[in-house]
Amino acid sequence: DSFEGKIAFITGGASGIGLGIAKALVGRGAFAILADMRQDHLDEAVAAFAAAGQGERVEPLLLDVTDRAGFEAAAQDIDARHCGIDILVNNAGVGTEGPLRQATYADWDFGLGVNIGGVVNGIVTFMPRMIARAKERGGGHIVNTASLAGTVQMPGTLGIYATSKGAVISLSEALRNELEPDGIGVTALLPGFVKSNIHEAKLNRPAHLREGSGYAESEEALSERVLGDDWMEPEEAGEMVAKGILENAPFVVTHGIFRDAMQAKFDAVMEATPPA
Ligand code: NAI
Repeated sequence: DSFEGKIAFITGGASGIGLGIAKALVGRGAFAILADMRQDHLDEAVAAFAAAGQGERVEPLLLDVTDRAGFEAAAQDIDARHCGIDILVNNAGVGTEGPLRQATYADWDFGLGVNIGGVVNGIVTFMPRMIARAKERGGGHIVNTASLAGTVQMPGTLGIYATSKGAVISLSEALRNELEPDGIGVTALLPGFVKSNIHEAKLNRPAHLREGSGYAESEEALSERVLGDDWMEPEEAGEMVAKGILENAPFVVTHGIFRDAMQAKFDAVMEATPPA
C-alpha cells in the first residue's frame, strides 16, 4: 500500500482537499509537485511539509490551470528532471456561486475555465506522456476532483459550478474506459463538505474576468462563509483518495448526506426510461 518512487502532480495542491491528497500520497512515499496559482498557499504548504520533516518530498509550482502554455512548460521541465509523472490529480477548482440569471460570460468563463477547462488542460498536457510512461512503469493513475454538486442540486445557487462538475464526472468515466488497456486507472472524487479555502473564489478570479461579472455580490457573500465544525478535515478526504487510487475505484464519495436526492434523481431518469 505504498506510493514509494511515484511522482504525483496535484493541481490546487497547496490548499484544502488537494493539500490533503498531497499529504496522504507523500505519507505513503510519493514525491508530490504542488501546482497552484496562489503563492501564499504554496508557501504555507511547503512550510507545513518541512515542519513534518517531509520538505524533500514536495516541490511547489506556481501555475494557473487555465494557462496551457504554462502547463506544457511545467510538463517539459518535469520530463527533464523526473522523467514524467505517475499520478495526475486534477483538483484545482473555484466555488463559483450566484444565480444563473445574473451570470455574465465573465462568470461562465471563470467557472467553466477553471473547473472543467483546467481538468481538460491537465489531460491534454499529461495524458500522452502518462500513456508512454505507463508502458515502462507498469501503470499510472488520474484523479479528477468533481463534487456531489455534479450529481444532485445542492442548496444554494450553484448552476455554473454544478455544470462544470457534472462534466468532470462524465470526462472521468470516458477516460477510465479509454485508459484501462494502458494500465492507467481513473477516479472521480465527489466530495461533500470539506474544510478548505473554496470560499475565496473572489481572490482566485483573474482581473479580466472581474470585468463585467454579475457575481461580485455573491462572491463577496461567499468569501464571508464560515467553515462548519462538522465538515470533513481535508486530510481525511486525502486518505480516502489514496485508498481509491490503490483500489482503482471509479468513484470516491466522501459524504452520504445527499444519498436520497441522488437516488431520487436516478429514479426519475429510470421512470422516464422505456423498457429495454
Ligand atoms: P481550496 O480553495 O482550499 O483549494 C483549491 C486550490 O486551488 C487553492 O489553493 C487555489 O489557490 C487553487 N486554485 C484555484 N484556481 C486555480 C487555478 N486557476 N489554477 C491553479 N490553482 C488554482 O478549495 P478546495 O475545497 O480544497 O477545492 C479543491 C477541489 O475540491 C475543487 O475542485 C472544489 O470544487 C472541490 N470540492 C470542494 C468541496 C468542499 O467542500 N471543500 C466540495 C466539493 C468539491
